[in-house]
Amino acid sequence: MMAPMDTDPRYSIPVPAKLPIWLRWMNGGPAWRRSVLRLAARSRTLRRLARHVQSIDTASVAKHYAAEVDRFNAQMRSLGVRDIERYYWYHVVDLPGGITTPGMYDYRGTVGCFGFPADMRGTSVLDVGSATGFFAFEFERRGAEVVAVELPGLDQLDRFPGQDTGVLLRKIERMMTPLPADKAPGLPRGYSAEEMYYYLLEAPFQLCCRLLGSRVERRFSSVYELSPQRLGRAGFDVVFAGDILVHTLRPFDALTALAGVCAGTLVIAQAIPGSPSDPPAMLYEGGETPGDDCISWWLPNEQCFKQLLRKLGFAEVVAVGNHEGIHRPAGNIFSRRILHAKRVGTA
Ligand SMILES: C[S@@+](CC[C@H](N)C(=O)[O-])C[C@H]1O[C@@H](n2cnc3c(N)ncnc32)[C@H](O)[C@@H]1O
Repeated sequence: MMAPMDTDPRYSIPVPAKLPIWLRWMNGGPAWRRSVLRLAARSRTLRRLARHVQSIDTASVAKHYAAEVDRFNAQMRSLGVRDIERYYWYHVVDLPGGITTPGMYDYRGTVGCFGFPADMRGTSVLDVGSATGFFAFEFERRGAEVVAVELPGLDQLDRFPGQDTGVLLRKIERMMTPLPADKAPGLPRGYSAEEMYYYLLEAPFQLCCRLLGSRVERRFSSVYELSPQRLGRAGFDVVFAGDILVHTLRPFDALTALAGVCAGTLVIAQAIPGSPSDPPAMLYEGGETPGDDCISWWLPNEQCFKQLLRKLGFAEVVAVGNHEGIHRPAGNIFSRRILHAKRVGTA
């Protein structure tokens, strides 16, 4: 029996429909941009307006984000949290007392697109690559028993043979310090690998856990090493892999490990290129420069995912929807497709 889909009104706002039209076309897909640029190219006034609107939009997203960071840091300092300026917030997470983490990705309004049951009581969930933990805490809020998996160290991130860890770390550091030095003068740079891991993946998750009074269980493992033996249970009802396979050089091995710990539904959420009817293929996006600091490698298309997942024993693989949101502080739109792969006869 399929559990009822998410009907919580807080989570039923379809963000794409709510986005102002100018924001959609400034940030939207190539088709949008092409049609608008064709129009704009005919008029100097429209061209000027387009440039103006784009600069207002990006600047206002960044400004709003910077103000949120300041407010949040002040709230945390008042609670006695030290070094809060160093924390990296991947997700927006609602905390008690009306406090909200200044995350780069805000799924609060669009989590309904992921097709998770509104009531997850009695459901075991494995959240793989949990980052700041928005999804783990959301599953818990819906009543699930949650295990959140994170890498044991940044040296475990997949690297191309010969790729330098130092270069990779500097790239992550740039991601952690998105505001330029003049806008965030107090922001420290030059983290050691251990500090970076702590402020990027461990401290934000643990702070949320503490303030939420969460009972989410934290485990450390690379996706490749997940197994029933390692996790101490035969299989989870729901396994969530949000934007993690893009970071794997061996996505089929990663999928195989995920399948091995999934007794029910495997949910994959990530950018999926092409159209659903394209023949199965994987897009390589790791670049061609030796030693390049890439952290994304492969993007399987929908047919590729469907065929691999069926081969791994999932009888039914369906795309349940798309998610779009605005990345902060950059202000560009990101988009993800959501696939549900189900074992035979499971919810
Ligand atoms: C882009 S974030 C996605 C966070 C979250 N799952 C979401 O959907 O919003 C990728 C996460 O996967 C983790 N990760 C990257 N490579 C991994 C691997 N080989 N095994 C386990 N986790 C990995 C990263 O540390 C990070 O927490």
